[in-house]
Amino acid sequence: MTSAKKFDPAKRKKLNNPERLRWIPPHLVWELVSSADGTLYLDIGAGTGYLTREIAGYAGPDVKVVALDIEPIMVSEMKKTLPKDGIVYPELMDRDELSFTDSSVDGIWLIALYHELTPPGPLLAEIRRVLRSGCKLVIIDWEKDSKACEQGPPLDHRVSTSTVIRQLKSAGFLDVKEVEGDFNTIFQLLPAAE
Ligand SMILES: C[S@@+](CC[C@H](N)C(=O)[O-])C[C@H]1O[C@@H](n2cnc3c(N)ncnc32)[C@H](O)[C@@H]1O
Repeated sequence: MTSAKKFDPAKRKKLNNPERLRWIPPHLVWELVSSADGTLYLDIGAGTGYLTREIAGYAGPDVKVVALDIEPIMVSEMKKTLPKDGIVYPELMDRDELSFTDSSVDGIWLIALYHELTPPGPLLAEIRRVLRSGCKLVIIDWEKDSKACEQGPPLDHRVSTSTVIRQLKSAGFLDVKEVEGDFNTIFQLLPAAE
């Protein structure tokens, strides 16, 4: 079922706006998500892979970042445009299914995806299954408690920080923290560590 909240792939060029690197500093995402000796990371809902590539740029040569999306157009665009650097691997995924074994993934990020998940529970359960103990999920999404709505999804499509925290806790993420950045506050960062 296609949700009205799902990003329209025809608008995918908007994702490649360099301004977004200021709103979502890639080094900060990497600092938050990376774990000592981690080698396998997932970007779920990677879109065009624009941010995936920038974030993965902070990873060492032994790291593999799998850029997942449910939208075939996005995955073929990533395959066409991303450098074959042996770090980022685009892959099509089925909704709410991660084709990785239990406790095999060292970190996961979701950027501008959470508000599209209707509901988020099934994907969060999969994330918990594949994440290695002590590793992190980082969620970055549009601020709901904001009057500024010139960009991004309508306010009624967004999810408040308190709702995200509640949903993460009921999915079993024990240590949920909101991170305040010195970047544009229309985004919120919500890493959750088990
Ligand atoms: C707004 S775009 C963000 C893309 C990328 N994270 C970025 O910030 O540049 C959201 C992406 O998530 C994908 N998506 C939507 N629902 C998804 C789901 N349930 N699982 C995986 N990807 C999904 C969409 O196809 C789209 O490419």
